[in-house]
Amino acid sequence: MTIGILKEISDENRVAMLPESVSALVKMNVTMLVETGAGLAAFANDAEYEKAGAKVAKKADVIAQSDVVIKIQPPTTEETAMLKDGQVLLSVLNPYFNTALVKELAAKNITAFSMDVVPRTTRAQAMDILSSMATVAGYKAVLTAANTLPKFFPMFMTAAGTIKPANMLILGAGVAGLQAIATSRKLGAVVYVFDVRAAVKEEVVGLGGKFVEVEGATDDKAAGGYAVEQTEEFKLRQAKAIHDQAVKSDVVICTAQIPGKKAPVLLKKETVEAMVPGSVIIDIAASTGGNCELTKNNETIVHNGVKIIGNSQLPTDMPTDASRMFGKNLINFLKLIITKEGALNLNWEDDIVKGTAVTHGKEIVHERVKSLI
Ligand code: NAI
Repeated sequence: MTIGILKEISDENRVAMLPESVSALVKMNVTMLVETGAGLAAFANDAEYEKAGAKVAKKADVIAQSDVVIKIQPPTTEETAMLKDGQVLLSVLNPYFNTALVKELAAKNITAFSMDVVPRTTRAQAMDILSSMATVAGYKAVLTAANTLPKFFPMFMTAAGTIKPANMLILGAGVAGLQAIATSRKLGAVVYVFDVRAAVKEEVVGLGGKFVEVEGATDDKAAGGYAVEQTEEFKLRQAKAIHDQAVKSDVVICTAQIPGKKAPVLLKKETVEAMVPGSVIIDIAASTGGNCELTKNNETIVHNGVKIIGNSQLPTDMPTDASRMFGKNLINFLKLIITKEGALNLNWEDDIVKGTAVTHGKEIVHERVKSLI
C-alpha cells in the first residue's frame, strides 16, 4: 500500500507527518510518497524524508499513486478534483461545518476519515489530534498573553519594590484549559478557572488553579464527559461570576466549547469595558465564534485598551512539535487500518474506524454529519 503526504496551504506551517513518522510507516511495510517541500515550513526538508525512506514527488503524482492521501487542512478544490475514485483520505475536515466538501467527497466515492471526529474514548486517546492541538494551543495562548501583557506574570520582590503576580482567568478546563493552567502556573500567575463540569475541579486544583464554583450546572453523564447546554438561570449566575472575576484579571484565556456547536459567549462587551486597560484576552475558541462577544476570528482588536486576540491557528506557530504529535496520532490511527504486511484493511467492526469515517461507498456515513446535511 502507498500513503501520500500532501503539502499544506501557504499559511499552514505544519505537515501531517515529520520524517520520523514516515520512517515508522516504512518499517510497517508501507510505501511512502511525500509532496515536494511538504515539510519545509516545519523545518523538515525533502532530503530528510528521502533518508526516512520516502519518495518525494509532485502533488499530482503523489495523489495519482497513493491508496491513502493524508494532510492536515481539508483538501483544496484543486486537490479534491485530483482525488481518485475509491481513494482513502485522512485529514481534518471540520465536517460539521464543511458540509459542501463532505458531499463532494461522498459523490467522488472517497473514503474520508476526519481526524477531528475520532471518538473521545480511552482507546482512541493516542489518535486524538484535537487533544494534541489543544495542548499546543493552551501552551501557546499563555505565552502569547505573557508576551502581550505590559506586566510580569510572577511576583517579584525587588529593590524597586514588590511586583504583584498577574491575575489570570481561564474559561473552560478541557485539554487546552488545563495546559493553559499548567503553563501559567509555571510562569507564576495566580489562576482562577471556570468550567461547567464539576468533575474537572480536582484536576484544576491539582495544577495549582483556583476553581470558581457556580451553583446549578447541568452535568450530563450521557454526554461522554463533554459539557452540555446550560439552563438560562445558570447562564445568568455564571455571567455575573465571570464578570466579577474578569474585571480583577490581567489576562483571560477563553477555551470553553461544546464540540460541534458555536462557542458559548461568556465574556460580554460590558465586562471587557470594565476590565483594566492593558489587560489581554486570548480567545482560542475564536473559530467557532469565541467566548468573548467582541472576538474576531484570526484578528487582534483593541477595545477600551483591552487587547482581544482571536488566534485560531496557534499550532501552526509551533509546527515542529505540533507536526510531531499530529504524525504520531495518525500512525496510531493507521495501525487500525493497515495489516502487518502493509496492506489496507478497513475494519468497519472497529468503533474508532467507524466513528472517524465521514464518507464511504458514495454515502455520508457519519451519523452526526448526516443529520446536519
Ligand atoms: P475540550 O472540549 O476538551 O474543553 C472545553 C471545555 O469547556 C470543557 O471542559 C467544557 O466543560 C468547558 N465548557 C463548555 N461550556 C462551558 C461554559 N458555558 N462555561 C464554562 N466552561 C464550559 O476542548 P479543548 O480541546 O480544550 O479545546 C478548547 C478550544 O480550543 C476549542 O474551541 C477548540 O476549537 C480550540 N482550539 C483552538 C486552537 C487554536 O489554535 N486557537 C487549537 C486547538 C483547539
